[in-house]
Amino acid sequence: MQFLLEVRDLRVDYVSDGLPPAWVLRGITLTVAEGECLGILGESGCGKTTLALALLGLLPDSAALREGSICLRGRDLLQLTEREIEKLRGEELSIVFQDPSSALHPVRRVGAQLTDVIYAHRPGLSGGQRRELGEATLKEVGLADTERIFFSYPHELSGGQRQRVVIAQALVCRPALLIADEPTSSLDTTVQAEILALLNRLRRERRLSLIFISHNPAVISEVADRVVVIYAGQIVEEGSAREVLVSPLHPFTQALLSCLPTDKGGSQVFPAAALLGTAPDPVETPLGCAFAPRCKDRMAECELRMAAEVCAQPGRQVRCFKYGG
Ligand SMILES: Nc1ncnc2c1ncn2[C@@H]1O[C@H](COP(=O)(O)OP(=O)(O)OP(=O)(O)O)[C@@H](O)[C@H]1O
Ligand code: SF4
Ligand SMILES: [Mg+2]
Repeated sequence: MQFLLEVRDLRVDYVSDGLPPAWVLRGITLTVAEGECLGILGESGCGKTTLALALLGLLPDSAALREGSICLRGRDLLQLTEREIEKLRGEELSIVFQDPSSALHPVRRVGAQLTDVIYAHRPGLSGGQRRELGEATLKEVGLADTERIFFSYPHELSGGQRQRVVIAQALVCRPALLIADEPTSSLDTTVQAEILALLNRLRRERRLSLIFISHNPAVISEVADRVVVIYAGQIVEEGSAREVLVSPLHPFTQALLSCLPTDKGGSQVFPAAALLGTAPDPVETPLGCAFAPRCKDRMAECELRMAAEVCAQPGRQVRCFKYGG
């Protein structure tokens, strides 16, 4: 089976003068099928944004991509020139970041920013055609009064409207794959629900594939078909969203889900069980399981070597000695 996206053994570290390298992605392997939504779940600092930037060829100079391959429709993106990658960005894959304000130029009108993207990829379109396509895409992402929005500056829009504009910008050249990196984290709950509903609608209507990144399992459960859980730069669990989020196998996923508040009589109750401690510093590569210092199920061998990823149940991969490995 050929996947839309196939990432194999991706290893990225950050290098700063005088410091040992920070091993941020330590062998990420994942796939995304046509029309599928893959959720990427993990704590702050586990490497989610670094993974997104690596997929788009946008890693900063301080990052080194040591090993691995990223294939989109069978083409290895790491073998492409910067010009070829630039062309793919927007036409084949796009990204929406957490903060729509920083994704938009503060003193350029929304329409100009949208038509810039169209011009970069469709230089043959006339000004009128670019505006028509821009306004149609604003409408498609659920914005009414598109003429006013087209001529507005970003600060004249609400946070939810700005995020819709950013989504329109990402989708205007009809990419096959959208990477959404915490796209709702800066929004209030009502707007968050609207943006999630929009992404689900766009997936259906455009047969869009989606990588949806979040630290929040509840948000991931709204959109993802499949989930990978990342801990300290490694995938520790993978399976269908329903199975992973309802009956997690890895002790980290179990602890993460046990921290979720429950609804009692209309108010949120936070459980006593919390995920104590912090993830290891990426400059220190642990010998054994990176989660061992925080794991309630830790065994002697966990600190001596790393568990291999094993198939714990049909369609469920997990990296933990409790399941073999
Ligand atoms: N440009 C950089 N230079 C050096 N280290 C970096 C850089 N960007 C990120 N890091 C480090 O890499 C690790 C992973 O960061 P990353 O932003 O990928 O995590 P994340 O999972 O997206 O976190 P969050 O949920 O907070 O967005 C962190 O330890 C971070 O400090
Ligand atoms: S390998 Fe050991 S320390 Fe790591 S999660 Fe499994 S039981 Fe816990
Ligand atoms: Mg991030």
